[in-house]
Amino acid sequence: MSAATHSVAVLGGTGALGKQISLAFLTEFKSNFHTVRVLTRDPSSAVAKELAERGASLVKLDESHLTRVLDDAFKDVDVVVNALSTKSSDATNQAVIDAAARSNIKAYFLDEYGSDHWINEFSGYEHPGWLEKQRIATETRKKLQGKKVIAVSKLQLKWNHVNIANSLSVSYHNVGVDIENNVYSVYGSPSQKFSTTAKTDVARSVARLAILALDPATAPKVPDNVRIAGATVTYEEIRDIVARVKGVPKGEIKAEDLQQHKEDIRQHPGENFIDYLRVVIGEGKADFSTTNANALVNPGEAFWKWTTVEEYVRAL
Ligand SMILES: NC(=O)c1ccc[n+]([C@@H]2O[C@H](COP(=O)([O-])OP(=O)(O)OC[C@H]3O[C@@H](n4cnc5c(N)ncnc54)[C@H](OP(=O)(O)O)[C@@H]3O)[C@@H](O)[C@H]2O)c1
Repeated sequence: MSAATHSVAVLGGTGALGKQISLAFLTEFKSNFHTVRVLTRDPSSAVAKELAERGASLVKLDESHLTRVLDDAFKDVDVVVNALSTKSSDATNQAVIDAAARSNIKAYFLDEYGSDHWINEFSGYEHPGWLEKQRIATETRKKLQGKKVIAVSKLQLKWNHVNIANSLSVSYHNVGVDIENNVYSVYGSPSQKFSTTAKTDVARSVARLAILALDPATAPKVPDNVRIAGATVTYEEIRDIVARVKGVPKGEIKAEDLQQHKEDIRQHPGENFIDYLRVVIGEGKADFSTTNANALVNPGEAFWKWTTVEEYVRAL
């Protein structure tokens, strides 16, 4: 008999991050979850079918009947993970919060998974995407009082050079790591640390946090804002890793004026998300090396080994 006691619903569970989250619940943490519901606008898509073959129950996210669909989808569910696209409509986002508030779920993951925007300092010229995440987080926490509401922050960079359409994916290339030409450009100091986490490790962390949040003995240990730091590196270290792995000379590092870039953002607020991110990295606000929940979610790497930057480079 299965010992699985929990059930989970994943919004955006077919997406770039959401698919990995769905898979974590369906595979490595399957023994804890008897039901994994994936909400999707198109249950006939290739990703949706793949997840169904692996055991997911698909729920059509019919946007013309949001209240009914979401109430049904959250019925008998212990935890809801929101990993919807940032392009999802205000009506959908609002309906999700209200349905979660009406439901008997015990834990809810906010649609976050980015840098910790609460500590950013762009007073008066904040990025609108971060302001929107803050507005939604504040409203969700207010309406879901009595339920555990968790925000997972991490920086997740990818090695590809292409931005996927309709996605906020940010590649290392975007933030100045040009491996092809072995040139590295950084806003501020090349020895400033920043933390970066593989998508699969973010997904595993969400599954582990869900298990911890559903156990009354461990729930109080789960912070409202959880920081994850799979690997913490500097631009100099990335340059050195590339040289070692690829057998090339150590590349050039161009250090650009951090304050000048910040001033450029102030002059043109909201225009370039990547520039915001590069300033956040330069200011050390993406260095989660001493302020993360790694030991809680994966004590002593008992559940998985965190993916290293060297492994990323070797896989290129
Ligand atoms: N991907 C990254 O590298 C990354 C990095 C940092 C932070 N994040 C954060 O992670 C979260 C998820 O991002 P993501 O890149 O994984 O999302 P995504 O792949 O762009 O979208 C996730 C899912 O949302 C659904 N969706 C797309 N457009 C929609 C719309 N207009 N209305 C309703 N549903 C829609 C789609 O599911 P169906 O088509 O099946 O309905 C899609 O598979 C966001 O909060 C994002 O800011 C992502």
